[in-house]
Amino acid sequence: MARIVAGVTSSHVPAIGAAIDNHRTSEPYWQRVFEGFERSKEWMAKTRPDVCIVVYNDHASAFSVEMIPTFALGTAAEFPIADEGWGPRPVPVVKGHPELASHIAQSVILDEFDLTLCNKMEVDHGLTVPLNLMFGSPKEWPCPIIPLAVNVVQFPPPTGNRCFNLGKAIKKAVESYPQDLRVVVFGTGGMSHQISGQRAGLINSKFDHAFLDGLTKNPKKLTRLSHLELMREAGAEGVEMVMWLIMRGALDEKVDEVYRFYTVPASNTAVGHIILENRIKGAKKAAAKSKKPAPKLKRAAALQKVHRVRS
Ligand code: DHB
Ligand code: FE
Repeated sequence: MARIVAGVTSSHVPAIGAAIDNHRTSEPYWQRVFEGFERSKEWMAKTRPDVCIVVYNDHASAFSVEMIPTFALGTAAEFPIADEGWGPRPVPVVKGHPELASHIAQSVILDEFDLTLCNKMEVDHGLTVPLNLMFGSPKEWPCPIIPLAVNVVQFPPPTGNRCFNLGKAIKKAVESYPQDLRVVVFGTGGMSHQISGQRAGLINSKFDHAFLDGLTKNPKKLTRLSHLELMREAGAEGVEMVMWLIMRGALDEKVDEVYRFYTVPASNTAVGHIILENRIKGAKKAAAKSKKPAPKLKRAAALQKVHRVRS
């Protein structure tokens, strides 16, 4: 049986991609951002997922403003890199997992979430920047990626509650896939930012930290935030954070927060990042039988103080 082992969130600021592509990551401004993901890359290299589901938003690359699906699942074998005006980013082509993606489509659509299925789709910085932050810049991405594009660019985006419930449906879908696959789900975008209008440049760190706390401990509360509240507190583009609730809905109710990083700013945006792990099922019982401490408990002890980095 496939299972979701962890969820990660990360901002997708396009300038982060440009800093990587133009070899500027060691400049002090960017170093501050990239340093925060060093541990994350180590975590990813240790976790070695078989597949990642990346919840992200397209920025008028695959879908023009003429046609914007609310939820679009990538079922193709490959997703070419979109040209966002400066040529495609020099990152590896994204390889999909058509079998698992089709299985998710079938399960989730029969659970009454009407996904758009994309058998051909280009992916933009919304997906590639988080991949770089978590995997670095390898020659090939180390595992297949299933893209799930969410409309957060044209009103109305889906509610946080719908996103959370879609995450639950994805969890059910993954857990009914017969092959043993370890899956990591990404929730991308955010945190607080507003790119245009009178409040351009808005950052609300207090709100961001409360959102990160809520994501780990009480995501239900976050699902009750209206779009207007999210935009008032976190800026017009802060509404991207509904995507994080798909990731959270796909995890168990109780999770271990194993890492958190927050820094301001990257371009116009607060960079927030968290890694949440599902607890290993039956670990307590198995440990009681064998009298060895459960992996979860060992890990919980080791990580009693979550690594939190703020800059
Ligand atoms: C920026 C952030 C975004 O999320 C985005 O989609 C475009 C630009 C920025 O901070 O510049
Ligand atoms: Fe964005």
